[in-house]
Amino acid sequence: MAIKRIGILTGGGDCPGLNPAIRGVVFGAKQRGWEVVGIEEGWKGILNPPIWRNLELEDVDEILRTGGTILTSSRTNPYKEPHSPEEVVTSFRTLGLDALVAIGGEDTLGVAGKLYRDFKLPIVGIPKTIDFDVPETEYTLGFTTALEITIDAAERLKDTAKSHKRAIVLETMGRHAGWLALFTAVGAGADAVLIPEEPVNLPRLLSNLKKKYDRKKYLLIVVSEGVILADEDLDKTPVDEFGHVQLGGISERIAKIIENELGIPTRHVILGHVQRGGSPSPIDRIVPQGQGLMATELIEKGEFGYMVGVKDGKLAPLPLESVVGRIRPVPSHIIELYRPLFEE
Ligand code: F6P
Repeated sequence: MAIKRIGILTGGGDCPGLNPAIRGVVFGAKQRGWEVVGIEEGWKGILNPPIWRNLELEDVDEILRTGGTILTSSRTNPYKEPHSPEEVVTSFRTLGLDALVAIGGEDTLGVAGKLYRDFKLPIVGIPKTIDFDVPETEYTLGFTTALEITIDAAERLKDTAKSHKRAIVLETMGRHAGWLALFTAVGAGADAVLIPEEPVNLPRLLSNLKKKYDRKKYLLIVVSEGVILADEDLDKTPVDEFGHVQLGGISERIAKIIENELGIPTRHVILGHVQRGGSPSPIDRIVPQGQGLMATELIEKGEFGYMVGVKDGKLAPLPLESVVGRIRPVPSHIIELYRPLFEE
């Protein structure tokens, strides 16, 4: 079927690199003479009624250095009542679309995978997330920019921790995966890192920290927001349409434990949404435009049900199905490789 008109949306938490990806898609589409419908607010914008506007080259010419997403986003899940996936199919037809590009993390791409599986909706995905936890792909746009922010923050915190002979606990985002926390800790030379992939061993953590504080007279500890202490109960916390609880605050608890158990003056810092803003890094400008262009190549060839990820260092179409209901935690061999940095 000849393609004439495609849609594009960005879903889930925003991050730097989304606009470069949109730019790649629009350039690829315009080169082929296609119309581009920019769907606003993620999946919410392709329910009933759809929220959209046409996207032209002028709309994307100068968006490379702009953080966030010009299309806006939401965490709406069409598979969660009162919505229904059929509504997406109806709006797709009402808008006269021949294909759809969905840019998002495991939630948005999981929905894309299900829409392809259940309705054969012609969809191509592009993986994004500062959490770096989309299965199969070696790159998620937004992660390298977020890392620049977290490492910069960690280094600044070290300066002030040293001056006051304090411990500082820095909390990063990352939800169920500790990539951002681990690589922040490695990149900034932190003294300890806690990630959701590993249960917290408090006695071991405290004895390591004591040894280090005696030597250095300051400490920087990085903790991922998704770390749960053994006595914690998240059951009553409200959840979003994908079932995720709103995280944040573990650093305060860890800071209190360090101060109470070791007698070290301790502060905590929750970086929060600062990690998701700002201008994309060079990598997060270059790769996403390539992903956007490759998405249009796949659409032209009628190859749907894929996301444009990175495999073995190259851009590649990877099955969307592999994202449904899955994330990519930090594997144990990576945790073990870096462990000595935090034990001496
Ligand atoms: O998009 C991923 C993420 O930034 C997670 O790291 C974090 O837990 C979550 O989004 C925060 O979501 P919200 O922006 O809805 O508060």
